[in-house]
Amino acid sequence: MLPINRSRSQSRAGSPWSFPGMDYSDSRRKPQVVAKLVMVAILTAFCIFILKQSPAFSGPSLFLRREVGATHVLVTGGAGYIGSHAALRLLKDSYRVTIVDNLSRGNIGAIKVLEGLFPEPGRLQFIYADLGDARAVNRIFAENAFDAVMHFAAVAYVGESTLDPLRYYHNITANTLTLLEAMSAHGVKTLIYSSTCATYGEPEKMPITEGTPQLPINPYGKAKKMAEDIILDFSKKSDMAVMILRYFNVIGSDPEGRLGEAPRPELREHGRISGACFDAALGIIPGLKVRGTDYPTNDGTCIRDYIDVTDLVDAHVKALDKARPSKVGIYNVGTGKGRSVKEFVKACKKATGVEVKVEYLSRRPGDYAEVYSDPSKINQELNWTAQYINLQESLSVAWRWQKAHPNGYGSQSVITL
Ligand SMILES: NC(=O)c1ccc[n+]([C@@H]2O[C@H](COP(=O)([O-])OP(=O)(O)OC[C@H]3O[C@@H](n4cnc5c(N)ncnc54)[C@H](O)[C@@H]3O)[C@@H](O)[C@H]2O)c1
Repeated sequence: MLPINRSRSQSRAGSPWSFPGMDYSDSRRKPQVVAKLVMVAILTAFCIFILKQSPAFSGPSLFLRREVGATHVLVTGGAGYIGSHAALRLLKDSYRVTIVDNLSRGNIGAIKVLEGLFPEPGRLQFIYADLGDARAVNRIFAENAFDAVMHFAAVAYVGESTLDPLRYYHNITANTLTLLEAMSAHGVKTLIYSSTCATYGEPEKMPITEGTPQLPINPYGKAKKMAEDIILDFSKKSDMAVMILRYFNVIGSDPEGRLGEAPRPELREHGRISGACFDAALGIIPGLKVRGTDYPTNDGTCIRDYIDVTDLVDAHVKALDKARPSKVGIYNVGTGKGRSVKEFVKACKKATGVEVKVEYLSRRPGDYAEVYSDPSKINQELNWTAQYINLQESLSVAWRWQKAHPNGYGSQSVITL
């Protein structure tokens, strides 16, 4: 312990604070003292500089620090199909990105690709966590300084939602509530929410506008609609900037071939039409099953609006850019053009170069004849228009990735058909 009442006349020889030959009472030695203090200050500054260069020092704090000009976006579900493409685009546009994913459906391989492309400290971090765990979510918000959230994480298969509805309400509706509570508690005031055209159900009139009544017919659409309602109610009492994007049928992948769509094999039966097309072309399934040829459409098959993932993530970046406090924007994200299943199958055959076998079956209960968007609101307000509207081209891009990654992100090998 240091003595408290030490008089100036006391010897300082044993003091840990004294330097040899230094005596504070001697005014002639002041210049030497100053020089030594300057030396100490320089050495201290040098040590701090060296420490700051080490990753252990700069890593976590960069994500906790707010910096002018560096917008930090939390991308939930960023290991999944759309979330990974969105993270890639944000990183390319110099955003700071934190991905939170429980890898229940996504791929660590997609994260590895992103980390390989953006290895610099403070650009990208991945946090393995479940959004259903409110304590973990709160900790993530406490340990990071987010400016905005893009909330993609969800289970997202209509068929599965009818078999396991509670899982859907939990994962989509309850987790969105948890996320909103954390945003509110930690002062994060911008939310871009992934919604879906499934919230509209079976509208009588086409095309679908944002004013079309939302009458969802399956648990997936209902869970998303409930999440939208929670967000809208909360936004009335807060200054949060909210953008709700209702996507139509998402296809395609990164034109530079770095990312793709790689759903879990066990989800194949619930899968989407593009996945089925590639699985058939790869010989993983015997062929395509087209359900319903007697719909009141041009060729009797169902009509859908296919939106390329590159256009979709562009809509997110534009929405983030235009998001304003206390304002809510709701937008359909589609091409505005419907394509029949027969057209899709033709494009699939051309894109893959494989004469995929097609079996025509009777209608599947619950499928509706025609669904396509009116995208004029997003065209006008966000200055967004779909650019990748050639179905065959979008499928060709996606097919290149599928062919190079027959086991999803698990393999980089190329197979020849
Ligand atoms: N793909 C489409 O055609 C389409 C259409 C309309 C809307 N959407 C919406 O877009 C979003 C992304 O869909 P996708 O096609 O990329 O799906 P996806 O399954 O590829 O990605 C979802 C990601 O969320 C993660 N996730 C799920 N539950 C989570 C949880 N509790 N905690 C943390 N992470 C969790 C998964 O692991 C996965 O990485 C979803 O909200 C979906 O409803 C998709």
